[in-house]
Amino acid sequence: STYARSGRLPQQQWSTRFSFILAAAGASVGLGNIWKFPYVAGENGGGAFILVYLACIALLGVPMLMAEVLIGRRGQQNPVNSMATLAREAGASPAWKNVGRLGVMTGFLLLSFYVVVAGWALAYMPLTATGAFTGVEPPRIGQMFEQHLQQPLALIGWSTLVLVLTLGIVGRGVRQGLEKAANWLMPLLFLFLLILAVYAGSIGHFGAAVEFMFRPDFDKLSASGVLIALGHAFFTLSIGGGAMMIYGSYLSPQVSIARTSILVAVLDTAAALLAGLAIFPIVFAYGLEPGNGPGLIFVTLPIAFGQMPMGTVFGTLFFLMLSVAALTSAFSLIEPAIAWLTEKRGMSRFKASVLGGSGIWVLSLGTVFSFNIGADWTLAGKTFFEALDYLISGWMLPLGGLLMALFTAWVMKPEVTALELGGDSAGYRLWLGLIRFLVPAIIMLIFLQAIGLISL
Ligand code: PHE
Ligand code: NA
Repeated sequence: STYARSGRLPQQQWSTRFSFILAAAGASVGLGNIWKFPYVAGENGGGAFILVYLACIALLGVPMLMAEVLIGRRGQQNPVNSMATLAREAGASPAWKNVGRLGVMTGFLLLSFYVVVAGWALAYMPLTATGAFTGVEPPRIGQMFEQHLQQPLALIGWSTLVLVLTLGIVGRGVRQGLEKAANWLMPLLFLFLLILAVYAGSIGHFGAAVEFMFRPDFDKLSASGVLIALGHAFFTLSIGGGAMMIYGSYLSPQVSIARTSILVAVLDTAAALLAGLAIFPIVFAYGLEPGNGPGLIFVTLPIAFGQMPMGTVFGTLFFLMLSVAALTSAFSLIEPAIAWLTEKRGMSRFKASVLGGSGIWVLSLGTVFSFNIGADWTLAGKTFFEALDYLISGWMLPLGGLLMALFTAWVMKPEVTALELGGDSAGYRLWLGLIRFLVPAIIMLIFLQAIGLISL
C-alpha cells in the first residue's frame, strides 16, 4: 500500500492479542487504581469527583488511549523515533519528536515516586505475614504506618528492591519478561480485589461506602478537584507517558486498537471501583477519614486483615498482588526510556537498564525524604512528593496526551489513522470527532480553569 510500514522483529512483538491485552492491562492497573484512586476520591469528596473521573475515562481517556497506541503501532519504535517517523510521513515538523521526549521524561519522573510507594506495599508483606496487625486496635494500625514512613533507610531499601526487580524483568525483553509476568499475575489480582470487596462489605459499612462513592454532591468538588480528576484519569490509563505508545509499538497490525483500548479501560475502571468498595466500607465502619491521604489503604486494609479469618495469609497475598500490580506498571514506565536508549543510542538492554535505573534511584530519594527528614522542604505548600505528583498527574500527563491527540487528529493523514483503526466506519468517525474537538477543548478548558484564567 501507499503507507507501508517497517515492522519490528517478531521477537519484539507480543505473541498474541491476549498477551497485549494483559500487558496493557498490567501497565494500566497499578498503584493508581488501588492506592491512589481511593485516597484522591476521598480527598475530593467522593461521588462528584468519581463521576467526573468516570466521564473523563469514557469521553477523553478511551479515544486518547487509542491515539497513543496508534502512534506506537504505526511508528514501530520508541516514542521519540515513532513521533519523528510519523511526523515525516505526514510532512510535518520534526519538532513533534519532542512529544516523545516529554513522554519518556514523564515516565521516568513518575517511576521515581512509583517505586517508593510500591516499596511500602512490599514492606507490608512481611509485616502482615508475621501477624503484626492481628487483633491490633485501628488507631495503632494508623500509627504503624506513620512509623514506617519515619525510617528513610528502610524505605530506601524497599524501593531499591522494587527497582531491581523491575529492571531484572524489563531487562529480559518483551516476551520473556513483560509478557510472562503479566499473563498469570493480572487475573489473580482481580480475583483478590473481588474477594476483598465482598469481605469489606460484610464487616464494614457497605451502604455508607456506596453512598460516598456514587452519590454526587457537586458542592464538594472544587475547580482543582476537576483538574485532579482529569489528571487521575490519565494517570490510571497510563496516557501521555509514552507507556502505551511503546506497548503499541510491539503490537501486531492485525489487532483492533479500538476493542483492546476499550477493554483495557473497562478493566482499569473495574479495578479502581473494586478497590474503592474494598476500602470505604472499612473507612466508615471504623470512623476513619476518607481524606487522609496516601496512607489510606495501608491503614484500612490492615484493619480488615487484622480481624478477618485467615487475615495473615490473605493480607500477605494481597500485598504481594499489589506489589505485582505496581511492578507490571513500573515495567511500562521504564520501557520507553530503555527502548529509546537501545534504539537511538545503540546501548545494550542491560546497560540501558542500569543507566536508567540509577537515575530513577537518585530521584526516588526526594520522595523518600519528603515523608521524614525532608517533610518541611516545601514548594508552594507541597512536599517534594506532592509537588512531583501534582506536576506529573496534573500537567505533564495531560499535556503529553493533549499533544498526542492533536497529532493524530490534525497532523496525521486521516487515511493513515483510518487504516490503523480498521477502516473508515461510523466508529472511526466518532473517534475522529472526539479526538479533534472534544478532547482538546475539554483539556484546554480544564487547564485554563486550573491556572485561574477562567472560572466555570
Ligand atoms: N496507570 C498506572 C497506574 O494506574 C500508572 C502509569 C502511568 C503507568 C503512566 C504507566 C504510565 O498505576
Ligand atoms: Na490504572
